[in-house]
Amino acid sequence: MSAIEILPGIYSVGVVDWKIRNFHGHTYTTKRGSTYNAYLIIDDKIALIDTVYGPFSQELINNIKEVIPLEKIDYIIANHVETDHSGALLKIMPLCPKAKILGTAKCKEGLYRHYYKDWDFQIVKTGEELKLGRRTLKFIEAPMIHWPDSMFTYCPQDSLLMPNDAFGQHFATSERFDDQVDQSALMEEAETYYANILWPLGPVILKKIQEVQKLNIPIKMIAPSHGIIWRKDPGKIIEAYISWASGNTKNKVVIVYETMWGATAKMAAKIAQGLSGQGIEVKLYDIAQSDRTEVITQMLTAKGFLFGSSTHDNDMLPNIAAFLEIVKGLKPKGRLISFFGSFGWAGGAVSEMQEVLKDSGADFAIPGISFKYVPDQVELESCFEFGGKFSKLLK
Ligand code: FEO
Repeated sequence: MSAIEILPGIYSVGVVDWKIRNFHGHTYTTKRGSTYNAYLIIDDKIALIDTVYGPFSQELINNIKEVIPLEKIDYIIANHVETDHSGALLKIMPLCPKAKILGTAKCKEGLYRHYYKDWDFQIVKTGEELKLGRRTLKFIEAPMIHWPDSMFTYCPQDSLLMPNDAFGQHFATSERFDDQVDQSALMEEAETYYANILWPLGPVILKKIQEVQKLNIPIKMIAPSHGIIWRKDPGKIIEAYISWASGNTKNKVVIVYETMWGATAKMAAKIAQGLSGQGIEVKLYDIAQSDRTEVITQMLTAKGFLFGSSTHDNDMLPNIAAFLEIVKGLKPKGRLISFFGSFGWAGGAVSEMQEVLKDSGADFAIPGISFKYVPDQVELESCFEFGGKFSKLLK
């Protein structure tokens, strides 16, 4: 991707990573790739907002060089320490001899602990400004959206918010703006991003959005650090964040199970019938064969979750065990949950699954069910009724 002028004197100089399929140490499947966005502001003083992931440093350098020589950069705003946005500093800093880095106190500490360089660094706080000439940059600390160092940068002259990871999407495109891409793909990636990175931080996000709204600053464009730029309707993604962060859900249940020889799968299918018979939207996943990123995204707007596992060595199976550790970390406050599974001579999976999620914030709606070996017709009917009973609690 070349440098693209997104507003007069403001250039997108980031890169597209078409190939990446696993992000954050394989916690996130990026089926549409990603981008690492950086922005260059040309004024009396020149500022670079964020950099890119280290392996893409040369591409960033080439893009900046299309606009200005690197030695002219006066400031580098580091909105976030994580290496997908700071990695290129190692290559960029020696080429920008007068550049000073600006970021939060936690950013200063974090950058040092990543790169062990004594770069010229100025700590900034919420409300502080940096005058570039005609333009000014204002800083808004945003701790835990999603790291302690995170910060938003706002340019009042253009009503431009650069919030780094917030409002981003892992979405590799040759286009740069929301009005140029398929809307359903865009919102799917925005929702996937929120569910898999920001879900547990909902209360912090709501508070930050309210704080920014109280500042009464117009926002005509949101330029995040991943994916496309929101210029047509930035309010659309802000509203979506408010809804997700508020925990808004619908009458939908996500069933996630793992089965050894198919008995637990039979139970899952019958439970799903019991739910859908009551008009509930159901998503059913065998977690050993499913993409965890997609499952978590589906769970974001579901009011209920049902987890199933066969018993193995008095415990649940390994794929559902790994998945429930992720669910525990999501802190799904107020969601209704229950459990099911088959066993041979001794049970254990249902109680072990309950144990993992006991402090997750989810509500145990009804007692779990389990049956010996392969459920017979009467027991399958009980699974159907279990689904029906669970559905009534959702309404
Ligand atoms: Fe895109 Fe938190 O890094």
